[in-house]
Amino acid sequence: MRRPFIAGNWKMNLLVDQSLALAKAVKTAAGQTDTVDVLVAPTFASLAGVLEVLKGTGVAVAAQTCHWEPSGAFTGEVSTEMLKDMGCSHVIIGHSERRQYFGETDEWVNKKIHAAFRAGILPIVCIGETLEQREAGDTFKVLDAQLTAALDKVEASTMPSLTVAYEPVWAIGTGKTATPEQAQEVHAHLRVLLATLYDDSVAQQVRIQYGGSVKPSNVKELMAKPDIDGALVGGASLKADSFEALIHFDQ
Ligand code: 13P
Repeated sequence: MRRPFIAGNWKMNLLVDQSLALAKAVKTAAGQTDTVDVLVAPTFASLAGVLEVLKGTGVAVAAQTCHWEPSGAFTGEVSTEMLKDMGCSHVIIGHSERRQYFGETDEWVNKKIHAAFRAGILPIVCIGETLEQREAGDTFKVLDAQLTAALDKVEASTMPSLTVAYEPVWAIGTGKTATPEQAQEVHAHLRVLLATLYDDSVAQQVRIQYGGSVKPSNVKELMAKPDIDGALVGGASLKADSFEALIHFDQ
């Protein structure tokens, strides 16, 4: 019942022309499947152009972050209302790189989720433990705290349109992927947490993506796990051929 959801997070990569070329390739690849939801998240600089290329194609376009206020004196920031106005359907919130390098906190993540729903944008909420936390046996404790704080006062009725992305920090850009078993164990745990915070129906509807060195060679095994509903992909989403292979993982 949960449609597979393959998303490319381009991070701070690709000039405008390169972004448009990749968007065109994604458009073609996504046009060859009707079983998978596809999303790309370009930089702010390329967002308008990519939206134009992908208009009416069914490929969703996300921003990589947002501010929680609708407007105001927040130099450098972009609001969810502005993203909606441009035509974005989604926004990535709480990516570990934002937490690590830009001081994003659980409280900000929560405010941004509320701002996304206020503007009618769908949040992809990232959580993940560091290697140190995993080795200390704190993985579930850390993830529970992150997700519970992120979802504070988020209504059950809006939850089915929220996506959770489990991205173990130690697997991001390192080439080290969580094994399908490790990822499944966490995803199943998160689904139980969602059932506790909300109910079974919400837990069964929310899609949980895995992120961290997903590539054509491991996507099939990961996606075969019952609680892994998609992938949030960095490096392998930057090349047309590898992202195309990810989109077509089930073919
Ligand atoms: P990589 O696929 O490059 O490990 O990045 C994962 C990620 O952070 C996606 O948001």
